[in-house]
Amino acid sequence: MNREDFCLLKQDIIYFDNSATALKPKVLKEALMDYYDNYSANAHRGDYDMGLKVDMLYEGTREKVRDFIGAKKTEEIVFTSGATDALNKIIFGYFKYDLKENDEVLITVSEHASNVLPWFELQDEIGIKVSYIPLEDHKVTLENIKKVVTEKTKVISLAHITNVIGDVRPIEEICKYAHEKGILVVVDGAQSVAHDSINVEKMDIDFLAFSAHKLYGPTGVGVLYGKEAHLHQIRPIIFGGGMNASFSYDGVRVYHDLPSMLEAGTPNIADVIAFGSVLDYVKKIGLEKIKKHEVSLKKYCVSKLKKMENITIYNEDAESSIIAFNMDGVFAQDLAIYLNKYHICVRAGNHCAKILKEDIGVKNTVRLSFAMYNTKEEIDILISALKNPNLKREIL
Ligand code: ALA
Repeated sequence: MNREDFCLLKQDIIYFDNSATALKPKVLKEALMDYYDNYSANAHRGDYDMGLKVDMLYEGTREKVRDFIGAKKTEEIVFTSGATDALNKIIFGYFKYDLKENDEVLITVSEHASNVLPWFELQDEIGIKVSYIPLEDHKVTLENIKKVVTEKTKVISLAHITNVIGDVRPIEEICKYAHEKGILVVVDGAQSVAHDSINVEKMDIDFLAFSAHKLYGPTGVGVLYGKEAHLHQIRPIIFGGGMNASFSYDGVRVYHDLPSMLEAGTPNIADVIAFGSVLDYVKKIGLEKIKKHEVSLKKYCVSKLKKMENITIYNEDAESSIIAFNMDGVFAQDLAIYLNKYHICVRAGNHCAKILKEDIGVKNTVRLSFAMYNTKEEIDILISALKNPNLKREIL
């Protein structure tokens, strides 16, 4: 689908590493060049035409993001450098002050490092307790959440879709239950925004983090969504220009309202504006259509892999389009390097989900992750490469 819009696909390459980052459509480059060539002023500072155009387009992207995730207000959308930055700002700007010693945070062993390590840091810093929701067939169920929620549970922090197993969590159901218990829900949307629709209002999500680059957008842009009431409580963790209204010699200072208060310094203007063009592009195609295509590719690929006796698939039943597998007797990274000879790009290793081995029993896997432009023909080439009788010899 839409292959002609992705310049990189003119190369002899099969790109199955979309969970790491997606390829970029032409509209992204066009928007970037337009900014740099024609109106590259700073944002929120210039009282002249170019500056005003920048403000209009930068804030225009904020409105597009609001619409894309179904938030109520643009004030609830904060631009960050990525999902990791957003999660750190949520955890160290909000929860560091909201939580007390012995309060519990529930996560799972399949979370990405950026939804584990900041909580571990907080555990050391203020004495909270990080506990795990037991998984059932690699999945989170409400029943299992209920088993581990205690009086002390204050936060559930989960990926919407995990980056190795690719299971889709029942976020709306979880939020409903959590809120009845006074528990807040943080959602890492890094792997889901490009593949499944999120509506923060409908799902009643408290905080959401995601990156633009996995959504066919630029690197260096992320989004922190928070309900307005929570964002009014969050403390900035970066201070400087653009986020203050005034400060005086004696240290008295007044910070701007949301969202500027959380966007200190010159923002990533060009990329934010270009992200707006990419969101228009994705919206025009439609996430539903993209999802349907990707899931059909996964099913096709799984059916082919299952016919191979030397392949173990770890997440056949996961609803998203990610496939994690291994070949008997072949180290995952060696297989990725072998596939590279065929210009097939896959990711191998632990994928930053370093405690997932507690669930799937292996440390490293080969991961295939599909996007709108992948095809069944590409999968056929992958399968032929995996069936190569000389594969082990070629790796050695
Ligand atoms: N989190 C990204 C991945 O899963 C980088 O590959």
